[in-house]
Amino acid sequence: MIEGKLVNLRAREMSDLERMTVWVNDREVTRFQSVRYPWSLAMEEAFLRGQTASPIAYSNVSLAIETKDGAHIGGCGLHGASPENRAAELGIMVGDKEYWSKGYGTDAVVTLVRFGFDEMNLNRIELHVYDFNERAQKSYRKCGFVEEGRMRDAHYAAGVYSDVVVMGLLRDQWLSTDFTNSHS
Ligand SMILES: CC(C)(COP(=O)(O)OP(=O)(O)OC[C@H]1O[C@@H](n2cnc3c(N)ncnc32)[C@H](O)[C@@H]1OP(=O)(O)O)[C@@H](O)C(=O)NCCC(=O)NCCS
Repeated sequence: MIEGKLVNLRAREMSDLERMTVWVNDREVTRFQSVRYPWSLAMEEAFLRGQTASPIAYSNVSLAIETKDGAHIGGCGLHGASPENRAAELGIMVGDKEYWSKGYGTDAVVTLVRFGFDEMNLNRIELHVYDFNERAQKSYRKCGFVEEGRMRDAHYAAGVYSDVVVMGLLRDQWLSTDFTNSHS
């Protein structure tokens, strides 16, 4: 268990299955993610079986987000970590919409970033976010991420092309902020 201020990040469990299947089929949630097609319970079960069958690995840290009361509200992870580059890509989904815009996502990102730098010895964490996802961009900026560039028209959904914003955070930059002290 990785402890934040508002949330804990824990290993995924098979008992997460039904909630995760609901979230991954909720277009209000997935419009912000790369998920596009309907996703069956069986596919989600296969995904979770893979995730829960072996220990969390350096190259694929995938975790459930829980409130301090034990409510399972989403998931997040650091993916594709490379020991040569000491870099990984961050992903997050607060799937339970009741918990949006209440600080839980930002706390999960701060907690995950701290884990990435302090425990995995990463030097760089990056992420991709759609330009219309202003809530996510605000949250990431609060955690120290800066915009590094844009992939123009890289995403298409609901008949509209959108830019994909690339954001990044370096360890030195993170150390020079308050996050290490304010989220212990
Ligand atoms: C993006 C996400 C992780 C953010 O977590 P959250 O708990 O909802 O957000 P937080 O409350 O921590 O922070 C969001 C901030 O944006 C603000 N905000 C909310 N809606 C906004 C909007 N439409 N435009 C601009 N800012 C907005 C909030 O007020 C808050 O700022 P504040 O703390 O200064 O008040 C979460 O909403 C989520 O998972 N959404 C669905 C999937 C998704 O977008 N994943 C990310 C893909 S890159």
